[in-house]
Amino acid sequence: MSVILSVARGHNASTTLMIDGEVVFYIEEERLSRRKYDGSPILGIMKAFDCVDHIDHLVVCHTHKHGPELDWTGETLYSGLLRKLARGRFEFQTHHVAAIHHEMHAICGFYNSGFETAACVIADGAGSFLETDAIDGVIYEFETIFKAKWPLDKFDVAYKHLGTDQSVGVKKLDESNLDIILTEYPGYVKSYEAITEYCGFQSIDAGKTMGLSPYGKENPDLPPITRDGWVSRDLFTPDYPNQSAVNIDRYPILQEDVLEISKNKERYEKSGQREDKEYTEIQKDLAYAVQKATEEGLIRLIRKAHEKTGEKNIVISGGYGLNCVANYKYWKEFPDLNIYVEPISHDGGTSIGGAVWLNEQIVKSDKPYPRRKSLYFGISNYNRHYFDPLLVPK
Ligand SMILES: [Fe+2]
Repeated sequence: MSVILSVARGHNASTTLMIDGEVVFYIEEERLSRRKYDGSPILGIMKAFDCVDHIDHLVVCHTHKHGPELDWTGETLYSGLLRKLARGRFEFQTHHVAAIHHEMHAICGFYNSGFETAACVIADGAGSFLETDAIDGVIYEFETIFKAKWPLDKFDVAYKHLGTDQSVGVKKLDESNLDIILTEYPGYVKSYEAITEYCGFQSIDAGKTMGLSPYGKENPDLPPITRDGWVSRDLFTPDYPNQSAVNIDRYPILQEDVLEISKNKERYEKSGQREDKEYTEIQKDLAYAVQKATEEGLIRLIRKAHEKTGEKNIVISGGYGLNCVANYKYWKEFPDLNIYVEPISHDGGTSIGGAVWLNEQIVKSDKPYPRRKSLYFGISNYNRHYFDPLLVPK
């Protein structure tokens, strides 16, 4: 029996327990701690012992390796915690997955899709922190297309858009694959994050912008979201990995709107209302514009994925996969493609990707895993846990 415990650090922290290639449970830390977007999947690791008395492999997934360490021993938080919980009863190996974040999204979707082969289209905020000989400093991954098949020896990269805040224009990074490019232009998700903040939400709450978008309309007075096929650096100022802002000072229409937003905010706060927050027409129109522009961008990527790989099976994952309005458009746009959108497209899903990735190194699967029929991954009895006393102050 092979027992793999895989965790995703960062926001949407999650834990996956896999036994002999089957996901026994997947759970997000926020469900256990009752704190939204909770990081550090500690309760998830403890929960594994509801099901198993030993762990063979610990997989730690994130966009970069460095993270919290235990005092004195210097062990990484997760490997040290599991060592303490083991109390010498078992030994385990730790595997850090950092440079292949988009692969983890892709594997999660490919595993759950039940497809034998597929093109995986991944779009998220910043992906792995990577390096290249072409420039100094860290670069980030925005959009990737992989061709995947079982067994998962390796994912062939059909397209990759990497990015930096340095002025590099558009650079080809690989002579053998001209579609691996480094640019100064942010990815689609960064444009969405910036407008989400402009609309008064936390950047991670992009779903609220998606909800606001149908209240907006086409507004020709607004600066365009994209220019020459790239997300506009005129309108957006990215600050990687986690920030992105609308360049308000460049556009008088936005400067005036910001005054209006402040008045709305003042009125709203004075009223003491919890609901019916007001949004300006410009906020609504920007939400509309970014929804439309990014939908079109993803549609172009899906078309590219099909044309470059010849695949009719398409897996969508990475944070933008949570945009259910866009997902509906893909199905309408491509009636002849089999499009599977991974429900756990956010970073939490990478713990499933990590578990499958390691399992594939132990047992090569020559056929697909059964397609997931529901989102309910595992244990239904959440009421009686040994760690409940940790959550309830005495
Ligand atoms: Fe991600």
